[in-house]
Amino acid sequence: MRRIAVASGKGGVGRTTLVANLGIALASLGKETIIIDGSLTTPDLAILFKLEKSVYTLNDALVGDVTLADVMYPGPKRVKIVPAGVTLEQIRKARPERLAELMRQVPEKTDFVLIDVPSGLRRETVSAMRAGREVLLVATPEMTSISDAMKTRLITEFLGLTPIGVVLNRVRREEFELTRDEIRTIMNVPVLAEIPEDEKVKQALKRGKPLLELSPNSPAAKAIKQLAKKLLKVRGRAR
Ligand SMILES: Nc1ncnc2c1ncn2[C@@H]1O[C@H](COP(=O)(O)OP(=O)(O)OP(=O)(O)O)[C@@H](O)[C@H]1O
Ligand SMILES: [Mg+2]
Repeated sequence: MRRIAVASGKGGVGRTTLVANLGIALASLGKETIIIDGSLTTPDLAILFKLEKSVYTLNDALVGDVTLADVMYPGPKRVKIVPAGVTLEQIRKARPERLAELMRQVPEKTDFVLIDVPSGLRRETVSAMRAGREVLLVATPEMTSISDAMKTRLITEFLGLTPIGVVLNRVRREEFELTRDEIRTIMNVPVLAEIPEDEKVKQALKRGKPLLELSPNSPAAKAIKQLAKKLLKVRGRAR
């Protein structure tokens, strides 16, 4: 089983979109995949999958009111989604520091667990990262985004986790963007994918459907599917 924390440092770079669609892509390849919203104070995964009305959420499992299995909801291609609660009341009772311990309840047969790590360098961020064993970094090809991702990379090492690479999102190949080679040199990790800026991502959000379902042949969807195949090959840290 591989547990991958998907972290960015900077917010708004497309982490949740990636977690959702990469989860579907891995599930399409026949892998038992669970995606978890580790952003307990700024939850978005539930909204992407229209699960915001779920009676029980990750927050309830973290305090032991229910089990992890009780809050694994079926999604497209049999991906399992663990949404965090979106109401203020649920957010108030969030216990991110228990996330790593909850991983013991992940079923044995699981191939991949993807955790959406909240942005920044808050305690909640670190708690969500600790639920993973490997870290996949997400950034846009700009200096500010790369600089924030670098801080996350340092925390990755501090926590003894394995950085597997960086995914560049919203790539437009403009002259002012940092290149793939520059980013690889600065960050000292492989660039596993370049996901283009793609208006279909926003259309999917508006239509309330994941990109891979609505526009599976769009440039961003294709890049995410390729990334899923690559993840099967990169040397990870299985338990
Ligand atoms: N490849 C892309 N092309 C175009 N738009 C994109 C792409 N990826 C993400 N977006 C858009 O960028 C916005 C932010 O995406 P998302 O919510 O996934 O980011 P995030 O990193 O999870 O943000 P937050 O830090 O707020 O949780 C959304 O409007 C999303 O539709
Ligand atoms: Mg998000």
